Amino acid sequence: MNVDGKQYRGIWVNERDKKLIQIIDQRHLPHKFIIEDLKTLDDAAIAIKDMHVRGAPLIGATAGYGMYLAALECIDLEEAARKLKSTRPTAIDLAWAVDWQLKETKDKTDKAAATFETANKITEEIVEQCRKIGQHGMKLIEDISRKKEGPVNILTHCNAGWLATVDYGTATAPIYAAFDKGIKVHVWVDETRPRNQGARLTAWELLQHGIPHTIIADNVGGHLMQHGMVDMVVVGTDRTTYTGDVANKIGTYLKALAAKDTNVPFYVALPSSTFDWKTSSGMDIPIEQRGDEEVKYIQGKDNSGELTKVLLTPEKSPAANYAFDVTPARLVTGLITERGVCGADKEGIKKLYPEKNG
Ligand code: MRU
Repeated sequence: MNVDGKQYRGIWVNERDKKLIQIIDQRHLPHKFIIEDLKTLDDAAIAIKDMHVRGAPLIGATAGYGMYLAALECIDLEEAARKLKSTRPTAIDLAWAVDWQLKETKDKTDKAAATFETANKITEEIVEQCRKIGQHGMKLIEDISRKKEGPVNILTHCNAGWLATVDYGTATAPIYAAFDKGIKVHVWVDETRPRNQGARLTAWELLQHGIPHTIIADNVGGHLMQHGMVDMVVVGTDRTTYTGDVANKIGTYLKALAAKDTNVPFYVALPSSTFDWKTSSGMDIPIEQRGDEEVKYIQGKDNSGELTKVLLTPEKSPAANYAFDVTPARLVTGLITERGVCGADKEGIKKLYPEKNG
C-alpha cells in the first residue's frame, strides 16, 4: 500500500536485520506515522494486546512473527503460543497463525529457521487471500454501478483495510479494486467509537488512495439507508462461524439490522483464516471487553500538533467497553472470500470449503 509515495505493508521483516520485525504503530495514526521495532515475544504480545497492530489478519501475522521472535529467544513455543493466544480473544486468526506455527515446527530442530519460514508463509497467504477478496468483491460493486448513475455509495464500519490485514484489506479490498478499475465509488466511513478506527484509520487509508469518502458518526448509517444514500454495506470480521454468524467491531449488528430493514445488501469480507470451523453459534464466540478508559477518554491532535488524550465523561461515571458484537447469519447478504462469494450459511460455506467441515 502506498503511503506518501512509498510502498508499505502492515508488518515486515527489516531488510538488513532478519531478527527485527517492524510494524506501523497504529495508535498514532492519522497524525503521526511511526514505525515500531519488535524484537521479542513480549514486544509482539504487547503490540497485539495494546493495539499497536489490530485487525484480525494483521493480528494473525504479528502472532506468526511473535512465534519466530520467541524461537530466537529460545522460549518454549507451546508457552509462547499460550501467551500470544491470551492477548485478544475474539480474532480467531490469532489462533490460526499460532497453531500453524506449532504444527509446522513441531519436528524441526532449527526452530528459528522453521518459525521464520512459516511466519513469512502466513503473511504471504494473508496478502494473497485479501487480493483475491478484492477481485471477487469488486464484481458486486461493478454490478451495482451498471444499474445507477453516479458513484456506488458503500458504507463500512471500523477499519478492515490494508492496515488491518498486511495489505489490500478485506472489506476495503473490493473498494480499492473497483476504484482502480475506474468504477466511481464513494465510501461512508463510520467513525467507530470508542477507538475510532474508521475516523482515524479507514479515512486515512482512503485518503492515501484518493478515494472519495465521508466520515459519519456511528449512528448516521440508518438514516442514510432510509434515504437511499447507501447502495451496499461491506464490513470485515474477527470470527465467522461455519454457519455464517459474524463477530465484528461493536456496532456492526445495528448496521446489519438497518440494512435489512431498508433492503440494502450487507456483505462481510473475510479470508478463510477468519472462519471458526468448530463453533456453530455466534452466541458462543468470546467477546473481548477492554478497559473503560477507551470509552471515557478521546485522543486527538492539539493546537501545538501533539497527540493529547482528554476526558469526555464525568470522571466518576463507570463505562462498559464491549469490543465486538455478533451479527446473525440471517442478516448477512453474502460472504466475500478468497474463493468467491457465498451465502452466509452452512451450505454456502461448505460449497466453497468442502475440505473444512462436515
Ligand atoms: O479491535 P480491532 O480494531 O482489532 O477490530 C477490527 C475489526 O473489527 C475488523 O473489522 C476485523 O478485524 C476485520 S479486519 C480485516
